[in-house]
Amino acid sequence: MARKARIAVLVSGGGTNLQALIDAQNSGIIASGEITLVISNKAGAYALERAAKAGIRTETVLKSETPDFEGRLIELLDGGKIDLIILAGFMSILSERFTSHYKDRIINVHPSLIPSFCGEGFYGLRVHRAALDYGVKVTGATVHFVNEIPDGGKIIMQKAVDIEPGDTPETLQKRVMEQAEWIILPLSAEKICKEIITEAKQ
Ligand code: GAR
Repeated sequence: MARKARIAVLVSGGGTNLQALIDAQNSGIIASGEITLVISNKAGAYALERAAKAGIRTETVLKSETPDFEGRLIELLDGGKIDLIILAGFMSILSERFTSHYKDRIINVHPSLIPSFCGEGFYGLRVHRAALDYGVKVTGATVHFVNEIPDGGKIIMQKAVDIEPGDTPETLQKRVMEQAEWIILPLSAEKICKEIITEAKQ
């Protein structure tokens, strides 16, 4: 059997996208990769518990306590021989030093149809609030490569979600997760892992 790509997932919060990735690995939707490391930049993030329950190694790296935050991340990722880094609700912008070290090896899930409602300052519920304030009728989620421009890397997959009358940022966030993020993030992870292991064979 071909080797699997080694995946690290970077998280900051509840980790429902991490859970979708774990579930996809268990059900075989992700067959070309394996999550071997979860790193949180928030102490006590529930995502860490999800990882631990699945038997995945966890690390916490706090910006406030780590003089070279990105250097420490690189040390952990390179030390773990990670092939693909998935940002799943990771609420910290990474500099060019980091993104260029892992060119075409970092993907992110964003809760809107990029290029709408994205870039610096657009994260979590703020994205859904902005979509509702603007009055768009359709939003969705995007999985994209990560480069030095926040939410500016090449798009891998997108899925649209209808806005419904009476939506609040919270109801919209839930629908976008259920109908888009938790579907396209695992599918994108499998796509990129397959490409990575195929490249490695050539
Ligand atoms: C998700 O909706 C994700 O798309 C978003 O944060 C949430 C994390 O939830 N990410 C961003 O806004 C990044 N700009 P989770 O911790 O339950 O996966």
